[in-house]
Amino acid sequence: MTQDELKKAVAQAAVDYIVPHLDDNSVVGVGTGSTANFFIDLLAQHKNDFDGAVASSEATAERLKKHGIPVYDLNAVNGIEFYVDGADETNEHLELIKGGGGALTREKIVAAVAKTFICIADESKKVDILGDFPLPVEVIPMARSHVGREIVRLGGDPVYRDGFTTDNGNIIIDIHNLDISRPIAIEEKLNNIVGVVTNGLFARRPADVLLLGTGDGVKRID
Ligand code: 5RP
Repeated sequence: MTQDELKKAVAQAAVDYIVPHLDDNSVVGVGTGSTANFFIDLLAQHKNDFDGAVASSEATAERLKKHGIPVYDLNAVNGIEFYVDGADETNEHLELIKGGGGALTREKIVAAVAKTFICIADESKKVDILGDFPLPVEVIPMARSHVGREIVRLGGDPVYRDGFTTDNGNIIIDIHNLDISRPIAIEEKLNNIVGVVTNGLFARRPADVLLLGTGDGVKRID
């Protein structure tokens, strides 16, 4: 199977997982990226089975609206039963690196609110130790140099994502070659740097369920 076929298979598995639990009052949290896009397109077939969605990015909000799925501000909803999103890497504890698409902050907020976070990923994303994929960090623009220096002190190589602005008006620094053998500790250290909005490690709040697309079918890990 191609990578896109694996992504579509896990997106379908997520739809099959959540739809039986949805009712007229349900609001679904929806992530960002190519795997999440497959999920949106497949979820749209069930748009009459739930109330609407909260989006983790402007791009996702636009795609949901195109399908006629109502998109709510997070502050306007009572809660989110499920959050479904992709990842750039996952380890066996369902700790993730996210933010390849730059949507990490809103993704982290929606994940924090959701009762159940379902990560959908093809098997290329499963690793033993996080960190081959450069770790994205969203930074207030005026703090760029300061945050870069602090990242070097932590042992990483900061690379400014040139020409990219987040939905929140900030910049992204991607950290290469960082030792992420202790994900929770690194997540907290990065968050403590003044000027960092958030970082793409989802370790303090990992996924609850991983639907992993493999050549032998979709594997569920929870
Ligand atoms: C966006 C993300 C995505 O979930 C991550 O980049 C995976 O993307 P894709 O599904 O396209 O491989 O965190 O900020």
